[in-house]
Amino acid sequence: MKIKESANDELSLLEQIQNQEIEIDSACEGNASCGTCRIILLSDQFSEETPIEKEFWKGRSQKKQERLSCQTYCLKDSEVLLKS
Ligand code: FES
Repeated sequence: MKIKESANDELSLLEQIQNQEIEIDSACEGNASCGTCRIILLSDQFSEETPIEKEFWKGRSQKKQERLSCQTYCLKDSEVLLKS
């Protein structure tokens, strides 16, 4: 499912998605340890990977533009792709 997100540097993408009452898994509740909140970014208008996110991806397969929504912030209005 493709959804639009507004620029917001205070709420993570996970929080923004949850605030829209769109279902998204978040087993570790945003602590960058479960990987269930993975999304695909559809532009480059998002924050860089945090050190904790870089640590999560070490040794794991990461698709192009795939990120942890709990560790990513939307810098300009854009779209993301949710697993469905
Ligand atoms: S909610 Fe677990 S890694 Fe994002």
